[in-house]
Amino acid sequence: MSDELIIRNLRVSIEGKEILKGVNLTLPKGEVHAIMGPNGTGKSTLAYTLMGHPAYEVTDGEVIFKGQNILELEPDERSRLGIFLAFQYPVAIPGVTVANFLRTAVNARRRAQNPEDKGIPIPEFRKLLKAKMELLKVDPSFAGRYLNDGFSGGEKKRAEILQMAVLQPEIAILDETDSGLDIDALRIVAEGVNALRGENLGVLVITHYQRILNYIRPDVVHVMMDGRIVETGDADLALHLEEHGYDWVREKVDNGTPA
Ligand SMILES: Nc1ncnc2c1ncn2[C@@H]1O[C@H](COP(=O)(O)OP(=O)(O)OP(=O)(O)O)[C@@H](O)[C@H]1O
Ligand SMILES: [Mg+2]
Repeated sequence: MSDELIIRNLRVSIEGKEILKGVNLTLPKGEVHAIMGPNGTGKSTLAYTLMGHPAYEVTDGEVIFKGQNILELEPDERSRLGIFLAFQYPVAIPGVTVANFLRTAVNARRRAQNPEDKGIPIPEFRKLLKAKMELLKVDPSFAGRYLNDGFSGGEKKRAEILQMAVLQPEIAILDETDSGLDIDALRIVAEGVNALRGENLGVLVITHYQRILNYIRPDVVHVMMDGRIVETGDADLALHLEEHGYDWVREKVDNGTPA
C-alpha cells in the first residue's frame, strides 16, 4: 500500500467549463509541497475537488491514497482515511467551544474508524488538547472560546491548525489563497505546519503568497498554470518566481516545453 497521495490526470469542470486540464502530482508522506500560480489558474479548484465539493465535476483522472480513489469517497470518508482539508469548517458556531468542537471532530473520526467506539475519554482528550496547544503555543483560554465566533483571521487560522494537530492527519491540504491572511496569520499557519511536520505527515500548501514559503520551507514547489502543473522544483523555485514573476514559465509553456 502506497504512502503517497497520487493525483493522476485530474480534469475538473465547473458549470461545463474545464478548469483543471490534467493535473499530475504526487505528494509523499513526510514532505511539504507548495502549489503556486497566478490567479484563476485552478489552485482552489484543486483543493475543493480534493475536499469533495459537489460543484466541481470530475471528468477524468483519479486521486489515489492508500489504494483507494478518494474521489469516489464522501468527504467524511476521506477524513477517515487520514486526509485533512483545512477549510472544512469555516463557519462560526456560537455556543460550541473550540474544545468541544475538537472533541466532536476526534470522536467522529474514531467512530468512522470503528462504529463501536465510545469516544475519546475526557481526561485523554484534555491531555491531547493540552499537548497540542503547548506545541502550537496557543493560549489555554482559547479552548474555552466559541468556535470562530468573533475570531480574527489569525485566530481562525489558529483554530484550524489546532484542529489539524488534534486530528493528526496523514495528508493535509491547506488552501491559503482566499482567506486574506495577514502576515501574523501566515506565520501561525507556517509555525503550525513546521511544528507538525514529520515523516507521518504530507502537506500540500496552496498559496500565491511567496512569503509563507519563507516560513515553511517546502521540499517541492509546483507551479500551476491554466489548469495544469507546468513546472516543479525545489524551494528555490519559489524565490525565483518572486524575483522574476511567472512570465518565463508562461513562455516555456507557450513554447511547448512544460514539465
Ligand atoms: N463556482 C464557480 N463557478 C464558476 N467559475 C468558477 C467557480 N469556481 C472557480 N471558477 C473559475 O475557475 C477558475 C479557477 O479558479 P480558482 O479559484 O481555482 O483559481 P485559483 O488558482 O485558486 O486563483 P487565486 O490565486 O485567485 O486563488 C477561475 O476562472 C474561476 O473564475
Ligand atoms: Mg484560490
